[in-house]
Amino acid sequence: MSAEEIKKNVYWVGAIDWNVRDFHGYSTNKGTTYNAYLIKDEKNILFDTVKGPFEHEMLHNINSVMNPKDIDYIVVNHVELDHSGYLPEMIKLCQPEKVFCSPMGKKAIESHFHPEGWPLEVVKSGDSISSGSKTIQFLETKMLHWPDSMFSYIPEDKLLISSDAFGQHWATTERFSDQVPAPELMDHCEKYYANILTPFSPNTQKLLAKVAEMGLDIDMIAPDHGLIWRDNPGDIIAAYDRWSSYTADRTAVIIYDSMWHSTEKMAKSISNGLLSEGVQSRVMSAKVNHRSDIMVEVLRAKGLILGSPTLNNGVMPTMADVCTYVKGLRPRKKVGGCFGSFGWSGESVKHLNGFLEAMQCEIVEPGLKIKNVPTHDQFKECFELGVSVGKAVNAAFDD
Ligand code: FEO
Repeated sequence: MSAEEIKKNVYWVGAIDWNVRDFHGYSTNKGTTYNAYLIKDEKNILFDTVKGPFEHEMLHNINSVMNPKDIDYIVVNHVELDHSGYLPEMIKLCQPEKVFCSPMGKKAIESHFHPEGWPLEVVKSGDSISSGSKTIQFLETKMLHWPDSMFSYIPEDKLLISSDAFGQHWATTERFSDQVPAPELMDHCEKYYANILTPFSPNTQKLLAKVAEMGLDIDMIAPDHGLIWRDNPGDIIAAYDRWSSYTADRTAVIIYDSMWHSTEKMAKSISNGLLSEGVQSRVMSAKVNHRSDIMVEVLRAKGLILGSPTLNNGVMPTMADVCTYVKGLRPRKKVGGCFGSFGWSGESVKHLNGFLEAMQCEIVEPGLKIKNVPTHDQFKECFELGVSVGKAVNAAFDD
C-alpha cells in the first residue's frame, strides 16, 4: 500500500492489520485498519498515528507524499493506543510546532505518555485552525469512544475525520465504501457499533443532534478504522441514529448453554413459542458462538432470553462470560425472560434474571426452572414462555 488521496491534498496514510483477531474481547475476524490522515498544505497536518508496530507502514505512506519531518502539526483526535501508539516517536521524528488535542485528550496524553516538552495545545468544540487553504474545525465527541475523542471537520472539503465513530474493523485494500459490497460493509459497522459504542448510545444521540444543529455539510466521513464513507455518508449516520436509539427488530435472541441437552431442548421449545406469535428468533449456544457475534443479535432483537443449567450454584462459565460482556455493553429497551434445567439446587435462573435486571430489561415471566429432563408437559411450559415473550415483543411494536 501507499498513501491514497481522498480529497485534494488530503491523504490516507494509515496501516492495515490483516491478522488482529481480538479487540478487548471483540472478535475482529476480518482484521482492521488504523487510519491516519495527512493534509499537505502551507502547514502539513497529520491526524492521529497508528498502533505499534505498524509505524513502518505509516511512515512509508507518508514518505510517498512528503518527508515526515516536514509535518508541522499533529492533531490527536483520540488517545487510545491503536491511534496514538506511534505518537511519541512521531513527535521525536518531526518535531511539530504544535500537537492539538481536546481538554480530556491532554489529560489522557499526560497519563499515557508522561510527556516532557511536547507542544500540546488544547482545542475545544468550535475552535479551528488553518492549514493555509483549509480550515480544521474541532468538535469534542466525549465517549465516542473515550472521553478525549473529537472530530475534525474540514468545510472546504466537506470532510469529517471522525475518529472511532462510523468505523468498522475490516482489513481491506479498498479504501472507500463504494468499492465494497454495501451489505457486508454495514454488517461490519453493526458489529463495531454493537461491541464498542452501544454503551455510549445516549452520547451518540446527542452528538447526532448537535451535528444536525450545526448544519455541517458532509460528503465524506473518514473514520479511524475501516472504509471511508464517500458520497453516501447519510447511510451510516442513519444507521447510527437507529442503533443509538435502541430501535430493534420484531425478533428475539435466545442465548443459552447446556450440560446434557435439557436446557438446549428448552431453548428450542421457547423458540417455537415465539414463532407461534409470529416472532422469529435466533437460538445461540454460548459454547459455539463468539460473545461479540451474540452481541450483534442482542442489538438487533427486541426479545432477549437467557438460559443456563445450574452449575455449582451458578451459571455455566460460558453464560457468565457472555452475560457479563453483554451487560457491560448496556443494551436497553429489551423484553425477555430466563430458563434452565437443574439437578438439585437450581439457582441459575435467579442469576440470569439478575443480568436482565441490570440491563433494565422488562422481564415478562419470573423464570422457568425444570428438574433434569423436561417432560412433555414441561415442554409446553417452555413453549408458553416463548408465547409470553413473543406477546411482549409484539406489544412493544403495537403500542
Ligand atoms: Fe480505535 Fe478507541 O480506539
